[in-house]
Amino acid sequence: MKTLSIIGARPQFIKEAVVGSAIRDAGIEEILVNTGQHYDANMSDVFIEGLSIKEPDYNLGVGSGTHALQTATTMIRLEEIIMKEAPEIVLVYGDTNATVAGALVAAKLKIPVAHVEAGLRQHPKDMPEEINRVVTDHVSTLLFCPTQKAVDNLKKEGITEGVHFVGDVMYDLFLKMKPQLDVFGTLARFGLQDKGYILATLHRDFNTDNSERLRSILSALKDISKEMPVVLPLHPRTRKAIEMNGFEKLTSHIHLVEPLPYHDMMSLLIGSRMAITDSGGLQKEAYFAGVPALVMMPDTGWIELVEAGWNVLVDADKEKIVNMALNHEPSFTKKPEGLYGDGKAGEKIAGILKNFRL
Ligand code: UD1
Repeated sequence: MKTLSIIGARPQFIKEAVVGSAIRDAGIEEILVNTGQHYDANMSDVFIEGLSIKEPDYNLGVGSGTHALQTATTMIRLEEIIMKEAPEIVLVYGDTNATVAGALVAAKLKIPVAHVEAGLRQHPKDMPEEINRVVTDHVSTLLFCPTQKAVDNLKKEGITEGVHFVGDVMYDLFLKMKPQLDVFGTLARFGLQDKGYILATLHRDFNTDNSERLRSILSALKDISKEMPVVLPLHPRTRKAIEMNGFEKLTSHIHLVEPLPYHDMMSLLIGSRMAITDSGGLQKEAYFAGVPALVMMPDTGWIELVEAGWNVLVDADKEKIVNMALNHEPSFTKKPEGLYGDGKAGEKIAGILKNFRL
């Protein structure tokens, strides 16, 4: 069996760390293509090196641009490689422009697509990641779902064949990496007290590219940081949006840092009192780390954590963010267990791929 896997953005490096090593352990040949959507060292290289991902066989050097430019450039460069390598299956991860580009190219070359993290759905329906998910799922042959809810979502759209609930590969990685984390050393490095600060992230286009929402969120973080330190690793998109809007003053109390490598981020998450985020990955990793999260989205693909009372949807509502940050305690009676599988999602995916015949 020969697979070709496509990565390009930060969350995909994390997923490849699990699936890539599992499929190679299963004796499956893997060609790895990095589209180059994320190119800053702290958005890409630190993950490839820090998580021992194999050196990509190809780097497409796509970089930033409009959605059409990024997706189309990826498709044109990828088509040539897929035709040359002739894999039996193409593996795509998550919901980025690299995902949808890879899925479309492979499907049109009549090569089966396997989608890791299939079946997630959320509002707003026009967010780029949601468009990418829907399109990718509808051209995929194998759909690896992280939750039972994702399986149900696909069923509602008439997709039942090739669907497997395998669990969440990010949960696999968290369990594997946790023993290696130096939580107290990391807190000391950042001058933070255990459970004495909040970890925030902010990068969704509907938050960064809308100045009212951006102002509201930054004002909330500023108010909170008067009571308790707020650490905000700053995505380059957000840094640019702050500069463009002249919102630097709103960030003056916030502890701004550069985007962080996986080990630092997970250590800071474990040590935090709470996460405030619009990242799909971090709201779930917070739960793995035993920390509640406020989710700055109108809706989430990981709604089971909201339904369980662990996370809260706060959208961009300043008052709600501040109140919840200072007062929220998860309201469940029993910590929800088993939502994301058993930590063996990578192995399950590898097993299914190995036995796959068209
Ligand atoms: C992408 C994914 C999103 C994922 C996120 C993780 C899509 C549609 N979205 O969003 O699902 O959660 O990655 O970060 O694919 N930039 C740099 N250096 C970099 C990368 C980006 O400066 O290495 C800046 C550029 O100004 C760029 C902007 O950030 O235009 C946005 O980057 P882009 O890759 O388009 O999307 P993300 O917001 O990162």
